[in-house]
Amino acid sequence: MTTIALIVAAGKGERAGGGVPKQYRPLGGLPVLRRAVLAFSRHPRIDAVRVMIAEEHRALYDAAVAGLDLGAPVIGGAERQASVLNGLESLADAAPEIVLIHDAARPLVPAGVIDRVLDALDAAPAALPVLAVADTLKRGEGGLAAGTVSRDGLWRAQTPQGMRFDAVLDAHRRAAAEGVTMTDDAALMEWAGHAVALVAGSEDAMKITTAQDFALADRLLAGALE
Ligand code: C5P
Repeated sequence: MTTIALIVAAGKGERAGGGVPKQYRPLGGLPVLRRAVLAFSRHPRIDAVRVMIAEEHRALYDAAVAGLDLGAPVIGGAERQASVLNGLESLADAAPEIVLIHDAARPLVPAGVIDRVLDALDAAPAALPVLAVADTLKRGEGGLAAGTVSRDGLWRAQTPQGMRFDAVLDAHRRAAAEGVTMTDDAALMEWAGHAVALVAGSEDAMKITTAQDFALADRLLAGALE
């Protein structure tokens, strides 16, 4: 069975500040993207890693992954969904059985999360790592609280999201043809009628968006990862 990790890194990455796009900024001495790639390339159950990047980031990409055994990057699209579709299309001929789709912005994903996603794919066409919602959820209207939303059955979605390759390529192609957009690949699989298994995520797989997130990720790195 062939399992490929697709890492989406084609965003502008500007919200974290600092001039350099966040996926190319150093975190504990290594670029964020390099850490994300290593999480998969060092995992014994991953056969290959492919990265989607923005055309204008080629030099940053080359520097970030220097010395790693990666094929050519795939150029992403204007939205994350388009970047994923480009990556999937680039694998159409190779047709792996399993693809894990991961945000470069989650560089500290532990190997255990990858294992749980892969294990769940034995029984389901898609698998998604999730975390419980800790905060009370409020609905607001005009600056006033207008109700409390029950947290029962609500989860925060992370990546990597694992899928059977044929099913996710088909779902993405259909969504593109019909102009359907979703926030992540698991949502597209649900839309296409596939069951998505939930597995335990990890706080270490946090997504880096802001400068504060960089500070938090630095602290996580200093501690023990799963
Ligand atoms: O912007 P955000 O952090 O939500 O993006 C999630 C991931 O999707 C990031 O790793 C980002 O680089 C990637 N992305 C992409 N192509 C885009 C937009 C985002 O690959 N057009």
